[in-house]
Amino acid sequence: MKILVVGSGGREHAIAWRLAQDAEEHELYCAPGNAGIADVAMCVNIAADDVANLVAWAKAEKPDLVVVGPEAPLVIGLVDEMEKAGIPCFGPVAAGARMEGSKRFAKEIMDAAGVPTGKAETYTDAAAAKAALPAYGLPVVIKADGLAAGKGVIVAETTEQAEAAIDDMLVGNKFGAAGAEVLIEEFLHGEECSILAMVDGENAVLLPSSQDHKRVFDGDKGPNTGGMGAYSPAPVVTSDKLPMIKEKIIMPVVRELKKRGITYRGILYAGLMVNDANANPHGPLAKSGSTVNVVEFNARFGDPETEAVLPRLGGSFATALLHAAKGCLKDEDIVVKPETAATIILASGGYPGSYEKGKVISGLDTVPQPVSGAASPSVTQVFHCGTKFADDSVVTSGGRVLSVTGLGVTLREAVDAAYARVAQISFDGMFYRKDIAHRAFER
Ligand code: AMP
Ligand code: GLY
Repeated sequence: MKILVVGSGGREHAIAWRLAQDAEEHELYCAPGNAGIADVAMCVNIAADDVANLVAWAKAEKPDLVVVGPEAPLVIGLVDEMEKAGIPCFGPVAAGARMEGSKRFAKEIMDAAGVPTGKAETYTDAAAAKAALPAYGLPVVIKADGLAAGKGVIVAETTEQAEAAIDDMLVGNKFGAAGAEVLIEEFLHGEECSILAMVDGENAVLLPSSQDHKRVFDGDKGPNTGGMGAYSPAPVVTSDKLPMIKEKIIMPVVRELKKRGITYRGILYAGLMVNDANANPHGPLAKSGSTVNVVEFNARFGDPETEAVLPRLGGSFATALLHAAKGCLKDEDIVVKPETAATIILASGGYPGSYEKGKVISGLDTVPQPVSGAASPSVTQVFHCGTKFADDSVVTSGGRVLSVTGLGVTLREAVDAAYARVAQISFDGMFYRKDIAHRAFER
């Protein structure tokens, strides 16, 4: 198949890399791609949100499939335009991508569909929002309605923090239009996990569960990031929960959207809070009464979850994506391998705040060594998140620079393999979390 992947991060590298693993050979392109993606796909110099030029490229090149990685092009209607041009596209149309682009819309769909989630209300007036706070207790969660690059959620421990967040968004205009409406949301106790559902408009197949590490420092300290590591499967998602997640969370959303004339195709990513005796930690039950509640929906593959989940998929990934894009996805299209995967993000010093770029990365070509004591050589894969070529070197060009995935029979093997590969790589200012998968190990 001739396939265009849109995006330039670790997620898109993992998508292109996984397509290149299919038994059948594909002609792979990526717009705009990065220094690592160039190993598996031809990079096309068009920005991921340049809808007009992406569509022009697709009309001229006639790919069999376009796979959209990031949320921004989805929200501005890249898929709508590709569909008009008759190009099969994996990803939701703009109306569907509002599940990520507007937290108020996502709540409205969940309420209409009876999906368990935190109780929430939206406000545009700061005084009214503050007056509502006492009913929520503490902690309380304040969210900007729109896309705010992962910074629009404040978990407030005190009323003062909650009021300051409301003022920042509604009075100080901190997130511009994205924060012109705020949600006040019930704090959910428990352990988070990510479920990526592949949806074809009518049906969904769940990909293996995973868990992200959103805080920048070990022990889940410091500010939120795009994600500092992931592993799959996540033991908090016991197998008895998967049918419930599909039937009570994913399918009701797909059906509710359909009822409103929105055919959702692509990934529906459910960020979930699990709160039962198996969760770590677990706390008071949510008002919904459910032990699994939706924290957020995203309209795309998670990053770095994708770098942990896709290496675990067997079968033809291109066929699964194409079937979802064409509305004929089958359970058999998703084949899960028994291996466990762990992914470590290598970040630039200063991230998620300001950081320098252009640091030369060494160790990318070093041959991975077997972890001492392991029965077989370790299997690792380095995905590029924010890199580019400068002369003959690969240099950093983002906050999250590389995603290093290890695979193993056990989670311990996967984590050890990933960290052994990390030890071979360096660039000025590089840092990473040393406790990826700690919740699984604390069990
Ligand atoms: P979001 O962008 O909605 O995923 O929120 C970012 C992070 O804030 C989530 O991954 C959670 O860790 C936290 N969060 C968001 N909403 C809630 C909630 N209702 N209860 C507890 N934590 C939350
Ligand atoms: N890792 C979180 C996200 O992709 O939104």
